[in-house]
Amino acid sequence: MLPPVPQTHPVGATAADHGVRLQVRDVSVSFQVKGRARTVLSDVSCDIATGEIVGIVGRSGTGKTTLLNLLGAILRPTSGEILLDGQIFDRPTNKVITVFQDYGQALLPWRTVRCNVSLGIERRLDKATVAERVARALAMTQLEAHVDDLPWQLSGGMQQRVQIARAMVMEPEVLLLDEPFGALDAMTRATLQDDLLRLQREAGFTVVFITHDVDEAVYLADRVLVLGGSPAAVVREVRAGLPRERNQLDTRESPEFVTARRVLADELGGGAQ
Ligand SMILES: Nc1ncnc2c1ncn2[C@@H]1O[C@H](COP(=O)(O)OP(=O)(O)OP(=O)(O)O)[C@@H](O)[C@H]1O
Ligand SMILES: [Mg+2]
Repeated sequence: MLPPVPQTHPVGATAADHGVRLQVRDVSVSFQVKGRARTVLSDVSCDIATGEIVGIVGRSGTGKTTLLNLLGAILRPTSGEILLDGQIFDRPTNKVITVFQDYGQALLPWRTVRCNVSLGIERRLDKATVAERVARALAMTQLEAHVDDLPWQLSGGMQQRVQIARAMVMEPEVLLLDEPFGALDAMTRATLQDDLLRLQREAGFTVVFITHDVDEAVYLADRVLVLGGSPAAVVREVRAGLPRERNQLDTRESPEFVTARRVLADELGGGAQ
């Protein structure tokens, strides 16, 4: 029999009183479609703590990207509010950076790796600082050997690392990732998962990511939020209680991992999403 999941919460906001970075308070989102309101999220509440890694799972079309866009202030709620460090957060800022789903299209094909990475800072920082930050981001993502390549000369995994490097140069405090490794093969994906954990350990930023892969959710996250219902809300959260130092073989075989994975798969309907 599987051991009980140590800390699961059926519904809603649970974050610690201290160190809360982002707060989603009773948020609803409706879109107007042909003159009618389509309510996608209803009364969503959750807190994200500083330095926390939070995964979001849920069936396709539930509202995961919509929630991530709220967290990045790319979208404003129809009702309710988003707070960043206790302040109403309704305009994008360099503190909170989103890595979008379609990395193939996100890179500018005529720019080299170096120039894609410098994109977000080259107009607002002096040349020396730009060069220094770009070099650091390229080293962190192990792309130094490809600085002069164009995106189409890179593998899919490298292209995704360029996207992550592009976010790193902004020195974000919160990194939002929409299905960051979705289109990649299993081995590349595992490498990038570990790269992300390493970067997070080095830089200490807060991470919120979306995935369709339950194993990935448990492996990367401190806490996984399940979005469900229509309109959607946070119907469950699961904290596997894994140590921060993870490794692809041992962690995935640990009882905590197996249990959390099972709970999430059940919640999502046998893992089908
Ligand atoms: N700008 C928009 N106008 C109208 N409806 C929208 C808009 N953006 C999203 N929606 C609707 O909101 C719902 C949730 O979309 P969202 O992209 O957040 O889902 P998702 O959970 O990210 O799905 P997937 O896993 O397929 O990426 C969908 O029904 C979608 O049609
Ligand atoms: Mg989506």
